[in-house]
Amino acid sequence: MKVRIDGTTKEVRTIWREGQTIRLIDQRKLPHRFEITTLEDHVETAGAIMDMVMRGAGAIGVAGGYGMAQAALEAIDRDLPEFERYLLEAAERLRSTRPTAANLFHAIERCLDASSTGTVAERVEAVLSEADAIAEDDLEASRQMGVLGNELIDDEVRILTHCNAGALAFIDYGTALSPIRLAHRQGKKIHVFVDETRPRCQGARLTAWELEQEGIPYSLIVDNAAGFFMRRGEVDMVIVGADRIAANGDVANKIGTYEKAVLAHENEIPFYVAAPRMTFDLTCKDGESIEIEERSPQEIVGMWGVDDTRNPSRILIASEGTAVRNPAFDVTPAKYVTAFITERGILSPPFSESIKLTFGEADIS
Ligand code: MRU
Repeated sequence: MKVRIDGTTKEVRTIWREGQTIRLIDQRKLPHRFEITTLEDHVETAGAIMDMVMRGAGAIGVAGGYGMAQAALEAIDRDLPEFERYLLEAAERLRSTRPTAANLFHAIERCLDASSTGTVAERVEAVLSEADAIAEDDLEASRQMGVLGNELIDDEVRILTHCNAGALAFIDYGTALSPIRLAHRQGKKIHVFVDETRPRCQGARLTAWELEQEGIPYSLIVDNAAGFFMRRGEVDMVIVGADRIAANGDVANKIGTYEKAVLAHENEIPFYVAAPRMTFDLTCKDGESIEIEERSPQEIVGMWGVDDTRNPSRILIASEGTAVRNPAFDVTPAKYVTAFITERGILSPPFSESIKLTFGEADIS
């Protein structure tokens, strides 16, 4: 993505690998500060996924693959049984960071599969190329979703999106924001309604920032205002991303997505979900079997930002110790989804059939 920093424009990916070092945009600092940070080993990478230094299903998946590459390099001097043990432990550590996004689990499986034959040196090489292939696949899938999704966007439309399914949630382009970017680049008149997305405010902090960088017109709205604009006829379509999609088309995505889908249905507004193959989990029969992450009460009782002098600052909204529930995701039943925008085509209902037909039992690669 193109990022304007101190008057110059730079082309940058959300996350990339240089040997054993991972470099990435520290998303906790945006939009107030643009900072590249580094992760030197797979333990740091697991910590960064958990702390949401990077977040979003695609970026988490790529980080998982890179974490496996780091682990392989860390164990390069061990004998084969020790190497295998080390890699399995690393896989377990990376898996335990965030439970909902399917991309993470698929990425780790791909790296483990790649490491299953050959000498230690050959296995290390195989894991490195698989991790890099995951990143490149992610990039290409995002680009392709832009091309296919753009065909669903008319010349003058107002689009609502929730959370951040943009370049920052992947390597570049994003899922929901990829078609929006392309439509804008082609000169279509787009206006994006950005839900702020409490509690971590990925909409306010990240999506608004991405749209600003690209010059795409948008309005930031509080989560509770989506229904207001839909009912007034000011929203023509909704496009969101996904963290995991079950075989029947039920969608786990950022908390609040379900409400938007029901509201869109009530107001006869098309509701699209953009997601690559890596987000579909055909082992989940339906949304009931998707594990939903619950995060710290701290995210609800307080908020992070900068003060008037632009110094990082946290304020309390509720008292410390307030009883809190904080599910990070919800499940939108397939019946509310108009279509899926994937890199292999637009999937229409009935989803049990279109998903199986498109992705079948095929490999994740
Ligand atoms: O908790 P996050 O910020 O990782 O959640 C991200 C989302 O829910 C996105 O909408 C989702 O990942 C779709 S885009 C990859």
